[in-house]
Amino acid sequence: MSTEVDSLTIEEAAAELERLAKEIARNDALYHGKDAPVISDAEYDALKRRNDAIEARFPELIREDSPSRHVGAAPSATFSAVVHARPMLSLDNTFSQEDVQDFVASVYRFLGRLPDQSIAFTAEPKIDGLSMSIRYENRKLVTAATRGDGTTGENVTANIRTIKEIPQTLPAGAPDIVEVRGEVYMAKSDFLALNAQMEAEGKQIYVNPRNTAAGSLRQLDAKVTASRKLKFFAYAWGEISDMPSDTQFGMVEKFQDWGFPVNPLMKRLNSVADILAHYDDIGLKRPDLDYDIDGVVYKVDSLELQARLGFRSRSPRWATAHKFPAEQAFTKVTAIDIQVGRTGALTPVARLEPITVGGVVVTNATLHNADYIEGIGNSGERIREEGHDIRIGDTVIVQRAGDVIPQVLDVVMERRPEGTERYKFPTKCPVCGSHAVREKNEKTGKLDSVTRCTGGFICRAQATEHLKHFVSRNAFDIEGLGTKQVDFFFESEDPALQIRTAPDIFTLKARQEASPLTKLENIEGFGKVSVRKLFDAIDERRQIALHRFIYALGIRHVGETTAKLLARSYGTYEAFEAAMKEAAPLSGDAWNDLNDIEGIGEIVARAIVEFYKEPRNVEVISRLLAEVKPQEAEQPVTSGSPVVGKTVVFTGSLEKFTRDEAKARAESLGAKVAGSVSKKTDILVAGPGAGSKLDKARELGVQTMDEDEWLALIGG
Ligand code: IVH
Repeated sequence: MSTEVDSLTIEEAAAELERLAKEIARNDALYHGKDAPVISDAEYDALKRRNDAIEARFPELIREDSPSRHVGAAPSATFSAVVHARPMLSLDNTFSQEDVQDFVASVYRFLGRLPDQSIAFTAEPKIDGLSMSIRYENRKLVTAATRGDGTTGENVTANIRTIKEIPQTLPAGAPDIVEVRGEVYMAKSDFLALNAQMEAEGKQIYVNPRNTAAGSLRQLDAKVTASRKLKFFAYAWGEISDMPSDTQFGMVEKFQDWGFPVNPLMKRLNSVADILAHYDDIGLKRPDLDYDIDGVVYKVDSLELQARLGFRSRSPRWATAHKFPAEQAFTKVTAIDIQVGRTGALTPVARLEPITVGGVVVTNATLHNADYIEGIGNSGERIREEGHDIRIGDTVIVQRAGDVIPQVLDVVMERRPEGTERYKFPTKCPVCGSHAVREKNEKTGKLDSVTRCTGGFICRAQATEHLKHFVSRNAFDIEGLGTKQVDFFFESEDPALQIRTAPDIFTLKARQEASPLTKLENIEGFGKVSVRKLFDAIDERRQIALHRFIYALGIRHVGETTAKLLARSYGTYEAFEAAMKEAAPLSGDAWNDLNDIEGIGEIVARAIVEFYKEPRNVEVISRLLAEVKPQEAEQPVTSGSPVVGKTVVFTGSLEKFTRDEAKARAESLGAKVAGSVSKKTDILVAGPGAGSKLDKARELGVQTMDEDEWLALIGG
């Protein structure tokens, strides 16, 4: 028992404060570092309380290193990065029974199975939380990481250790190395209790359990995480030294044996009808569950079949998420505004009377395009129940699904006020005044649904949106150059400050240094430190991953995934640009190669080639390349693969695997799979009945082999 604070002498108090400072610091380190804490939270709090009480009585004794002086005792400014031993992928979404049937059919087709050779699936709730990968070495928890971008996550080990449901050690018999993956979530009841407490304390309340769980996990002070009662369901794995089961269901049973919570609603089922019945059943139970779910996940049960099915760029072929219908609410349209995007698209946005949909306040909803407002769909069909148009003043049904932008689903005609008018879609760009037109689709001859500003580079909206995209998180990620700053630099008429195109970002510092007159640090909103930070942030990006560089160019239809595919296929920026210029006639080898990349369709291919036909784009990029060096793309992990970097063509009828399977397998080994034989082809795999491609390969002296030789080459 320690002495009562009231009876401490000043000497005793000083000694006691010194002891407490050391003791608390030691426990903080244990708590945040790799080791488990050695005292309970209650004991820790008692130490802190005693320290505070002594300091209150002897304020003159408060130490420089007193625990009361640093709140939270955060060990580092941010979380460190963890590279996942196996990438953490996401799931494809399905929204209807037909989608689910298509998914199941695609699995059978890919595997070349007949419907009577039944394939079992698991079906389980899709938990609306945060995915987490927890690594055990020699049955001890060593690291826990968030999903991050799928390749690299944040090290949140200290925080995960505070979750009681997650075992710190695994029982004997568990593999030496195992990464257990699953979802961290906050129970609805805990969320409501937390918000009640926040409200009582007059603090801001939280939006929903998922965001609260995310916020609780990203606390530098693990004590905050500990106070939040997070929970966990295990449903997947990453690296594992020894597979304890050969089915999905069996793996999850093992997780349960090892002490992980697993979802009780997971079932193994054999037909689409059974899967859909389970979906309905889970949907009925949904309101009574103490955790948020947003759909049902179906997975092929056999791990052997999962391996054969493999992955697309970011999701497995053997799984899909069947989402529940989105949540809806009624509200009023107060205005319709037009936004002009990076590619000149005029997007109408409905301004709404604020309304809560699924726990989130919604004030805007996208109206997509002119047709959508009129009640006409992409193929000319009437949309919404009766195909009514949307007018300012209308009461509408708003829907929000997951993280997507809210949509206006339908108009409540009974509540349409007198005297409303049809919305007149602008024929001029509201920003630059150029004509806004709907292009004709060359293939179908129909009008495109998007109205586009023809102003191109002269349109302020297009140019600034372009810059904002360029500096955005998944592109150049330049901290300190946000929307406000981009607008400021863009509007500036001062040559020492102006940023009109991306290369200008990288010449800003030199122009500033050369200009004695306008100093950025003297401009309101900047200051010395922020200017230095901004220039540092810009300089840090002079070397950049190739896929980020390509994504940042803002080519129509080229999102992150496509940019990654392009980076991986072409390796260097120079090779990519040269190939795109060579593909200009929309025919020939370069064009065919581009179209052969799995995941790149004709519309995307065209958009890229068109982009490089515009001399102004090429000119801006060449100025950019004088400042920035895109790095060579990393190739997929294919160490030891005999076909890495090789271009392979499959022809004839294949008997050992389906065409899709052959292609996916070859690509996973780092090969490029092409559809036609050219001088760039390295290997032609010819099945029975091979014809002209085989002849051409022989003519060009390309190595040819049959399926067995191919299998022997890639190791079965
Ligand atoms: S399986 C390779 N199962 O959904 C695929 N994911 O959209 C591994 N999620 O990032 C995921 N519940 O965070 C799987 N029962 C479940 C899930 C689930 C929620 C999340 C997970 C994943 C996201 C994909």
